[in-house]
Amino acid sequence: PFEVQIGRGGAIHTVPAGLSVLEVLARNGIDIPVSCEQGVCGTCLTRVLEGTPEHRDVFLTDQERAANDSFTPCCSRARSARLVLDL
Ligand code: FES
Repeated sequence: PFEVQIGRGGAIHTVPAGLSVLEVLARNGIDIPVSCEQGVCGTCLTRVLEGTPEHRDVFLTDQERAANDSFTPCCSRARSARLVLDL
């Protein structure tokens, strides 16, 4: 499990194994535009303010992936204990 925080200083939610970041956010009333839910389309792309995503999409380029300033919450997860999202 890891945590997602809604903006710096915002609410913190735990993402357990078996749930996507997108699902955890939706359960907490935060709806992100979504389409493929498979990391292909980039519709759900969300800015990351702090933390390191574990990219599981095929949408971002290697360069964008390495920048670690955005990720696809429909399928990607976290390498760090917490991601702070620009939401
Ligand atoms: Fe398509 Fe997340 S919804 S990449």
